[in-house]
Amino acid sequence: MNSVYEKLKLCLDSVRKKTDFRPEAALVLGSGLGDYADGIQVCQTVDYSEIEGFPVSTVPGHKGRFVFGYVKDVPVVIMQGRVHYYEGYPMTDVVLPTRLMGLMGAKKLILTNAAGGVNFDFVPGDFMLITDHITTGIPSPLIGPNPEELGTRFPDMSEVYSLRLRNIIKEEAGKLGISLKEGVYVQLTGPAYETPAEIRMFRSWGADAVGMSTACEAMAARHMGMEVCGISCITNLAAGMTTKKLDHQEVQETADRVAGQFKQLITEVIGAI
Ligand code: HPA
Repeated sequence: MNSVYEKLKLCLDSVRKKTDFRPEAALVLGSGLGDYADGIQVCQTVDYSEIEGFPVSTVPGHKGRFVFGYVKDVPVVIMQGRVHYYEGYPMTDVVLPTRLMGLMGAKKLILTNAAGGVNFDFVPGDFMLITDHITTGIPSPLIGPNPEELGTRFPDMSEVYSLRLRNIIKEEAGKLGISLKEGVYVQLTGPAYETPAEIRMFRSWGADAVGMSTACEAMAARHMGMEVCGISCITNLAAGMTTKKLDHQEVQETADRVAGQFKQLITEVIGAI
């Protein structure tokens, strides 16, 4: 058996010993959104550390567990804390939790993150609906022997972020009176923030936001046929766009400031998908 798939099956067995919950949708919470999971109708939680072979996040502000429950009667699994490539895990481990949620039964995936704005029209606190991504700066999570059980060797990536889900998100944001920007997300490895020259380059590539997560998860999810959408919280303008130096505290503070609106939007979106 393919070793990536074998590890996934072990993790799935580990989870199944604790819960038989079948989620319809999966949600990954980015910086500042972690406590969303505490406010839903929780049925069960499983700490990542309880799952054999599971990568455990080391970032401050990221909890490490799956929360199983209901949002507006939709059965969901929520990743409270994700793992990042910069923590030192191989890319296949970084996307293992996403794949695992897919194997648990989730057909739809909602990804959230904190990101730096590259587009000069953005201001900190904006939300950006991800329309597409650029992953040139990271290794593909699909490198290695292809787990045929999950998907094909050369998967199509022409609509990673589902147009159907994007339209639903726009509609729900409109109903809530939340203004929603749209754009292309670039994933880089981090952990250092980018240089001003890099940001100028990404802008010329057509990027609107930059971050250290999400696109790899979206790729792995598409590979296995999940329907994917993503929303960035623009926590800061990227390097060189203001005179300010970047730090994680600013990212956290902006994410915390708009978390209420972000949570409202996520709730309505889950109800509508
Ligand atoms: N760059 C990369 N990742 C980020 C940023 C940024 O400016 N802000 C939040 N995550």
